[in-house]
Amino acid sequence: TEVEPVNTEIVTLTRHVLNSQFRLGAHATGDLTLLLTAIQLTSKFIATNVRKARLINLVGLAGETNVQGEEQKKLDVLANDIMINSLRASGKCAVLVSEELEDAVIIEDRYKGKYCVVFDPLDGSSNIDAGVNIGTIFGIYEIAKDSKGTIEDVLRPGREMVAAGYTMYGSSANLILTTGNGVDGFTLDAALGEFVLTHPDIKIPPRGKIYSFNEGNSLYFTKPVVRYLESIKYPTNGKSPYSARYIGSMVADVHRTFLYGGIFGYPSDKKSKSGKLRLLYEAFPMAMLAEQAGGIATTGTMRILDIVPKSIHERCSVFLGSRDDVQDVQRFYKEYE
Ligand code: AHG
Ligand code: MN
Ligand code: MN
Ligand code: MN
Repeated sequence: TEVEPVNTEIVTLTRHVLNSQFRLGAHATGDLTLLLTAIQLTSKFIATNVRKARLINLVGLAGETNVQGEEQKKLDVLANDIMINSLRASGKCAVLVSEELEDAVIIEDRYKGKYCVVFDPLDGSSNIDAGVNIGTIFGIYEIAKDSKGTIEDVLRPGREMVAAGYTMYGSSANLILTTGNGVDGFTLDAALGEFVLTHPDIKIPPRGKIYSFNEGNSLYFTKPVVRYLESIKYPTNGKSPYSARYIGSMVADVHRTFLYGGIFGYPSDKKSKSGKLRLLYEAFPMAMLAEQAGGIATTGTMRILDIVPKSIHERCSVFLGSRDDVQDVQRFYKEYE
């Protein structure tokens, strides 16, 4: 048997982003590359802390409640601080919005750049203490031409984002990124300290066999959702029923949906009239990735990326994943609402 030679042409995330800038030619300033370098660093830093959490007393509650009324975990607070510090220091940001901070952070002049980053520093908080996959989600806007960077620069529809992605802290750390030209996935090589391209040009299968909803909320589900779930659990056309997979970390549930296909849903319901997931830093980045990977992201009745946010912590109903599966849900909304 022949031994495969060592691959000396590894494509790191930085090299990949630089490459796409070379393709843009004169327009590229390198600013986005530097910003993404800062984001990569936060992911590596958070990843090492997640791995050590149990050993260095980083599990459990921090003692404060965030603006959403959720008890903050120590890792929520730490991940938030890591992101704020690194993004400010990058010199490329004007406005930062974090799940864990009530107000947007307006960067002072000496560090000010042209990008706005909206982020969920630690997604899947409820899974931290059990060692289940968690993640970081981010979306990037460019400030308007003559703006100094205000909250108006982030109260814009998701379709105007210039980049979006997430890092999943699991058996490995995976960073999934779009800059508006498809979706690529990278895996952290801990020895190199680099994210290496492992999943080029991710495309969601057009139809899947998995559904991912918190069915514990069934009591509150509206008719289109109830009927849709019935249709995949009790198919009448001779097909097999769908499998259920629900982790409770959006990053992990969406990651699986991108790779295996199927549908992830966190609908608005009779109790949570606007749903649970936050528009700016959960729904928009995942919707951009889903569309860039050939899938669909909808509230049930509206394209998520077309929503114009009114406030930074606003919530929305979410269904995303395989094109055909999400279209099925849309049909149930048309019929029953
Ligand atoms: P976060 O941990 O950032 O507050 O986000 C939690 C979100 C998301 O990760 C997940 O999809 C959803 O909440 C799970 O909610 P339930 O526990 O209600 O299923
Ligand atoms: Mn939270
Ligand atoms: Mn979250
Ligand atoms: Mn979070």
